[in-house]
Amino acid sequence: MNSAKIGILGLGTVGCGTINVLARNREEITRRAGREIKVVKASARDLKKARPVAIGGFDLVSDSYEIVRDPQIEVVVELIGGYEPARSLVLEAIAHGKHVVTANKALIAVHGNEIFSAAQKKGVTVAFEAAVAGGIPIIKTIREGFTGNRIEWVAGIVNGTSNFILTEMRDKGRDFADVLAEAQRLGYAEADPTFDVEGIDAAHKLTILAAIAFGIPLQFKQVYTEGITQITRTDVVYAEELGYRIKQLAIARRVNDKVELRVHPTLIPERRIIANVDGVMNAVLVKGDAVGPTLFYGAGAGAEPTASAIVADLVDVVRTLTTDPTNRVPHLAFQPDSIVNLPILPMEEVQTAYYLRLNAEDRPGVLADVTRILGDLGISIEAILQKEPREGEKVVPIIILTHRILEKNMNAAIQRIEALPSIQRHVVRIRLEHLNRDWK
Ligand code: NDP
Ligand code: HSE
Repeated sequence: MNSAKIGILGLGTVGCGTINVLARNREEITRRAGREIKVVKASARDLKKARPVAIGGFDLVSDSYEIVRDPQIEVVVELIGGYEPARSLVLEAIAHGKHVVTANKALIAVHGNEIFSAAQKKGVTVAFEAAVAGGIPIIKTIREGFTGNRIEWVAGIVNGTSNFILTEMRDKGRDFADVLAEAQRLGYAEADPTFDVEGIDAAHKLTILAAIAFGIPLQFKQVYTEGITQITRTDVVYAEELGYRIKQLAIARRVNDKVELRVHPTLIPERRIIANVDGVMNAVLVKGDAVGPTLFYGAGAGAEPTASAIVADLVDVVRTLTTDPTNRVPHLAFQPDSIVNLPILPMEEVQTAYYLRLNAEDRPGVLADVTRILGDLGISIEAILQKEPREGEKVVPIIILTHRILEKNMNAAIQRIEALPSIQRHVVRIRLEHLNRDWK
């Protein structure tokens, strides 16, 4: 049988990883797909750049439109990243009747509704397994493995760079900027690393996970997003003393007929497996009403783990090249006319527990003032830790863990605590989740 001819847009970390995996495992991949998958063209900006891949078996071009309009190419793999020119190239590939595989979560989260609608009209597939959690097949799992379930919640460590930074800060006391630079060198970080450390990349991934878990439209702008840039080693150490780890979590949860979508640093009890997911590794917890809680773990970034997901999509697409487009697995798990627009809960209406750290003057009555404010707002305390003042300082750090409460009550409490004359500097607030079966 003829080989399936593919074109790759972008020959960076993931593009080179994909070519290398396709070459190394050619025989097994062909046995699985039923046809050889052959890269015939690839594009990059700088044709002279040295790359960790054997150039020669395919044409290397600088104009990506040459690939998306090439009649011999059946599948286009978009690995440029970002919104443009990726969006225009993908739409052009679809217009030319080509299937698309992409690792670009920014593109899918922000322009996915438009892209899937164009693909559906044209009867082509847009596959995006590599867009969430690198090598973990979480899209296929939720979309196909859990179709019998009503998904209740999804919570994951889905940004490898942030997890790598938090782990190195905790284990080796390393400096934030220094670890970020290493993540960039290792090819984990986005072209603009603020996407990683400000939680934007995790929010893109959460947008996709929520859509396929709940059958809602992709709505990136509705995700509450907070990054890890304000996390200090002091809080990492205090959290450990209290039996918690700080992780950057992406959470999508059904609450009655509404949905919570949030990304933020979160204290997690250290006995949870997910609290022990370190370095660039990712993990996603999914709770379905029938299956119960499940956990998926693997490399969240890097050339070959991501290529593993790209090649899996390529094999899926090649296998379905001859099937009737109306009988294919829907892009977003639910049939396009069955997607419902569930309301998204504003962050103020979200309930979670909290870690608070405040610096108080070391004199009687201060703690009572703080606990009175918390009590007035219905916030109950789970634990309090008062530390010795640091050398040469007159303030004592106080750490408070609270039970679950509405975010708006906590906002009001923090405002009143910060107004107390005996409290110095701003109150540090990090959300806390127990991640138990029933989310209590
Ligand atoms: P890189 O920055 O390493 O590679 C991007 C490639 O695109 C480069 O080869 C670059 O060319 C090329 N490029 C940029 N602009 C153009 C253009 N206008 N026309 C043609 N080529 C262009 O990115 P990654 O490989 O790391 O990421 C690719 C995608 O995969 C992104 O969407 C990313 O979010 C996603 N992803 C990445 C993961 C990772 O671990 N790195 C993991 C999961 C997903 P040149 O080399 O000449 O500069
Ligand atoms: N920058 C991303 C991360 C790449 O660190 O997780 C994988 O999507």
